[in-house]
Amino acid sequence: MNDNHIDLLVYNIGTLLTLQGTNQARKGQEMSELGAISGGAIAIQDERIFAIGQEADVRAQIQGMKIVQSLDAREQLVTPGLVDPHTHLVHGGSREHELSLKLKGATYMEILAQGGGILSTVRATRAASEQDLYDKARRSLDVMLQYGVTTAEAKSGYGLTLEDELKQLRVTQKLHHEHPVDLVSTFMGAHMVPEEYKGRSEAYIQLIINEMLPAVKKLGLAEFCDVFCEHGVFAVDESERILTAAKALGFGLKIHADEIEPMGGAALAGKLGCISAEHLLAASDEGLKAMQQAGVIAVCLPATSFNLRLKKHARARTMIDMELPVALSTDYNPGSSPTESIQLVMTLACLNLGMTPEEVLTAVTINAAHAIGKADEIGSLEVGKLADIVIYNANNLAYLPYHFGINHVNTVIKRGKIVVSDGIKV
Ligand code: NIG
Ligand code: FE
Repeated sequence: MNDNHIDLLVYNIGTLLTLQGTNQARKGQEMSELGAISGGAIAIQDERIFAIGQEADVRAQIQGMKIVQSLDAREQLVTPGLVDPHTHLVHGGSREHELSLKLKGATYMEILAQGGGILSTVRATRAASEQDLYDKARRSLDVMLQYGVTTAEAKSGYGLTLEDELKQLRVTQKLHHEHPVDLVSTFMGAHMVPEEYKGRSEAYIQLIINEMLPAVKKLGLAEFCDVFCEHGVFAVDESERILTAAKALGFGLKIHADEIEPMGGAALAGKLGCISAEHLLAASDEGLKAMQQAGVIAVCLPATSFNLRLKKHARARTMIDMELPVALSTDYNPGSSPTESIQLVMTLACLNLGMTPEEVLTAVTINAAHAIGKADEIGSLEVGKLADIVIYNANNLAYLPYHFGINHVNTVIKRGKIVVSDGIKV
């Protein structure tokens, strides 16, 4: 670290949004404070930020040090690497046949009740080889990286047998080591009761608690455990038993809560001290209050409500006004949200959730990093943190959600290395 050199100097930055500030997940007005610097520069040594600030100050700090490589940011916008805190990255197959069903008026839960939906992806995932799953997920990760994502969470939950869940989790682990995007792994055996346990959900819950959770823990294949708490999937008391067992083994907790029906999932997230609760379209005021008091982060997924053609949206404005920290994510999966584009999510968060561009950036950087327990390393640009940086083909933040449906990323730096240049993975 004390070597007298700078590996990469990013200079001539038009607007540098550092997200420096509090160590906690941001809430209320804090979500609009981006730590902006105009005319900035960032000096990187090894994989971390060595100096950051006004260009003249940074150059003064590194005076006399050898600069190995310099990169002109062309007076454009620079932000921390984006963080996607909720994806179902590893899965087999796709579900484009559901589009025509949806257009005829079938709902997500109706398609699922007929054995389609998640269950059809379970069949495809079980049938896929580990290599097939790896290749497909790697292509998705390439897209995510090119759209500015430098860290993502990835859930299992399309295997639903011990072996098939481990298969998905091993793919995540391998990609974490081999792909520039860092992955945080979540075990989600409680995504659905598999067909062979139809009518015997208690036996499946016992399998999760007694066999799957201990095996995943022993192999070190996941940091978090997530449950789909929804009518017809896992009830609140079932979710509580699974998450309590996971907590006892040392997993961090996440929950798909109150997506379609107001079930009390948000309140359960507060009760159990989950790190985050996801979806929340139907969450009650009391549920959101319980989350706020317990410090649970609300992860809103506006691409999912868009794609499911739901009339309702997560109440992000209410959440921000009541000082509940909000993060945003793609929920990338083959059913409810078949998109890797965090930039589309940023637009939908503005237009459908009423969030400002400033709140949106906070929600896909520092708050998303908090939602996966990684805010000490990523999510803001500060001395000592990882040099995960995005340079855009835009010189101001509002331009990103405004000009929608395209990729604004020019350059991505991951752990100090240029991994996307001119919008293409190098
Ligand atoms: O977060 N809601 C449950 N799970 C995913 C959808 C999975 C699927 O449809 O394959 C979600 O929306
Ligand atoms: Fe999800």
